[in-house]
Amino acid sequence: MSPAADIWASLPVPALLIDADDRILEINAAAEGFLNVSAKSVVGVPIWDQVNVDSPLEEAFARARTYETPLFVNDVDVGGGQRAPLQCALQIAPLQGAPGQMIMLISPRELAGRITQHDSVKSAAKSAIGMAEMLAHEIKNPLAGITGAAQLLSMSLSKDDLELTDLIVEESRRIVKLLEQVEQFGNLSPPDFREVNIHDVLDRARRSALLGFGANMKIIEDYDPSLPMAQGDPDQLLQVVLNLLKNASEAAGNDGGTIRLHSYFEHSFRLRRADGTGRSLPLQVEIIDDGPGLPEAIKADVFDPFVSGRENGTGLGLALVSKIISDHGGSISVTSVPGKTVFRLSLARAPKQTKPKKEV
Ligand SMILES: Nc1ncnc2c1ncn2[C@@H]1O[C@H](COP(=O)(O)OP(=O)(O)O)[C@@H](O)[C@H]1O
Ligand SMILES: [Mg+2]
Repeated sequence: MSPAADIWASLPVPALLIDADDRILEINAAAEGFLNVSAKSVVGVPIWDQVNVDSPLEEAFARARTYETPLFVNDVDVGGGQRAPLQCALQIAPLQGAPGQMIMLISPRELAGRITQHDSVKSAAKSAIGMAEMLAHEIKNPLAGITGAAQLLSMSLSKDDLELTDLIVEESRRIVKLLEQVEQFGNLSPPDFREVNIHDVLDRARRSALLGFGANMKIIEDYDPSLPMAQGDPDQLLQVVLNLLKNASEAAGNDGGTIRLHSYFEHSFRLRRADGTGRSLPLQVEIIDDGPGLPEAIKADVFDPFVSGRENGTGLGLALVSKIISDHGGSISVTSVPGKTVFRLSLARAPKQTKPKKEV
């Protein structure tokens, strides 16, 4: 293939070549996909029969051809024979060296808008949490009243009926626990940045896990002893590691399993922001378990609040983890298949002038 043909075939944007009589001469692979037709079947078809645009373009198009100038059209709905209209931008230009022929690029708005859409999902999650915080606060008082009333009532009840008041008290406790987790979000203060020895944090989390929720787990330390100090809030990072260890222990179930705490240095790891700037996050911590893996149905959303795969889960553990790490300017990611789930934290190195280390 000639370079021109290669470029044409590789263009990730739907593109059409139109002859002097407004008929389709050629379309690229992306346009085949976009219009849901084969290139063969549309050659020779009048362009405006195949590409349905909601505003009259013929005149502007003819003018662009006559004066050999490009034409840009924003925010038009473009439909094909088989597909629903989609909001697009059109870029049209005369083809150099081929009088009368025009090239048309179709950019679906969806492609351009995708990054910001992610941001709006994030802010939706934020306002969901804000709402939940307010509710949590409002529900706690009446709930205390209900629990108290049930306890008073239980004093004058027969043994059989006691079961019912016990149920009220028990379930109210569960709600209070959930509400307290929701409130944790609101109370989360900005990180108090210090020089942190990540291995101290991991050790402390490991010991406390083994004494409590992780008693039936084996937790292996696999540390890079030359890892430099991180910049972070030791208490908040401890909370992060505890949440991850807790999830891994819960996923393993009664039979237990193995968790590996892996630290290493990756010089080239950078977090790229939307504005093109980047931040170096060379300290890597992986929490690896050999449990069943993330449930397929929630895999894509585990960091969102209220997403849980467990019967009595709140779905707030990983949301809190993700909030803390993002307040740290760090990044968290997960890869998971049955038998191997890896949560990876990437953190910044402590700069020279950070506050000295605090005992964790
Ligand atoms: N290590 C893991 N292995 C398997 N599943 C996990 C693991 N960590 C998290 N998950 C899944 O992600 C869900 C969300 O976790 P989390 O946000 O902590 O909420 P919760 O623990 O309250 O359900 C869990 O319910 C579980 O299904
Ligand atoms: Mg959890």
